[in-house]
Amino acid sequence: MRKKIVAANWKSNLLADEAVSLARQICTSDIPKSAEIILLPPMPYLFQIAQMAGNTIQIGAQNCSMYPEGAYTGEVTARQLKSAGAKIILTGHSERRQLFSENNTVVKQKINRILDAGLSVMFCCGEPLEVRKEKKHIDLVHQQLEESLFHLGPEQFSQVIIAYEPVWAIGTGVVATPDEAQEMHAFIRSAIESRYGGAVAKSTAILYGGSVKPDNAPTLFACEDVDGALVGGASLNYNDFIKIAQAIHYHTHA
Ligand code: PGA
Repeated sequence: MRKKIVAANWKSNLLADEAVSLARQICTSDIPKSAEIILLPPMPYLFQIAQMAGNTIQIGAQNCSMYPEGAYTGEVTARQLKSAGAKIILTGHSERRQLFSENNTVVKQKINRILDAGLSVMFCCGEPLEVRKEKKHIDLVHQQLEESLFHLGPEQFSQVIIAYEPVWAIGTGVVATPDEAQEMHAFIRSAIESRYGGAVAKSTAILYGGSVKPDNAPTLFACEDVDGALVGGASLNYNDFIKIAQAIHYHTHA
């Protein structure tokens, strides 16, 4: 059975004391153990939150350098993040693609650095609105997978979680319908099957992200190929995040 995952992407929100106290609340809540919780705090607090979390939940980073150690002022490497307690690193997020000019090649390099460091990858893909309007969303996501991810061997690929995040749904309050999410998730799983075979496709977790809230989470999680959520805005609110994490408990797909 695939892992069920609910991940919190706090982005550039929360000051140190706020982040630590929200993380503490989440770590000590009685979320059903059938779902794995991943917190992606801002980097300066990652070490402290990872120490506090211990083995209760996984802590990860929202980004890392595309370079290894060396003279890259201001950059933080995947190995440094691992040494601070990160278990997983997000890459390919549309905000990084749009605001920081990260293309598929940069994302591919980051994925290589993350796996070299012995960490897991959460790979984000998804199409802007104009691409969906042209009905080219499947093609675009396919290209993102091909150009950033499908160079990996099967063993490396087993360390990858995918998050489908339509750009038009991120932070907008406009969530994909269950049919729209399911269509893309099923496509992603079929692309993984063509590249890595059925067993790998079946075991890969594919999360949905983009305006996930407590009221829309249950119908999204009911979709056959939706294995959880990457939550931005609603993850900043303890009650909302816990409700979303609880919603996954009731949906277990093969
Ligand atoms: P949102 O963000 O839940 O605020 O739409 C999701 C994300 O960017 O990961």
